[in-house]
Amino acid sequence: MYEGDIASVLISEEQIQDKIAELAAIIAERYPVGAPEGDLLLVGVLKGAVFFMTDLARALPIPTQMEFMAVSSYGSSTSSSGVVRILKDLDKDIAGRHVLIVEDIIDSGLTLSWLMRNLRTRNPASLEVVTLLRKPDAIKVDVEVANVGFDIPDEFVVGYGLDYAERYRDLPYIGTLEPTVYGG
Ligand code: XMP
Repeated sequence: MYEGDIASVLISEEQIQDKIAELAAIIAERYPVGAPEGDLLLVGVLKGAVFFMTDLARALPIPTQMEFMAVSSYGSSTSSSGVVRILKDLDKDIAGRHVLIVEDIIDSGLTLSWLMRNLRTRNPASLEVVTLLRKPDAIKVDVEVANVGFDIPDEFVVGYGLDYAERYRDLPYIGTLEPTVYGG
């Protein structure tokens, strides 16, 4: 699939799945089952987080519920500005719920920091983040991320939910693209 487009595999399918099992075990310890606040609510950010979210939900040994949000950040296609528009909001009220935001990647961290501020105003019982990937720039932004799968170099990556022009989301691994794909 996508023969000739992938320059290198940065994180293999097996590494991703092992990491998800590790993250799931850590996360499950923090949320009591049968709490009055209800099941842990996973909030996924469309579309990139979909694969991570579904694999994580199945790896978690506790009951979870799912909600999705779609946001778009103003700026170029490869860098965000921190000004965010909600394209699809949550269907449910999250007041009093334990909420875990599930992110595919944190780059500048601006999108996530906006999202955390926005969701906090809705008064959840708790609000945490799990991200599969984080780029070094994210460290410059004051955003608390309790759970990080992999810190990766500052390169554009695709696969496992991440796209370039809507392609490559369906790859089971994370890879980098050949410059020819960008027209290079
Ligand atoms: P910020 O910079 O606000 O942006 O943390 C996070 C969003 O930017 C997208 N993004 C990427 N998408 N490969 C992608 O396919 C990448 O290497 C990449 N870096 C950032 C992504 O939508 C993420 O949610």
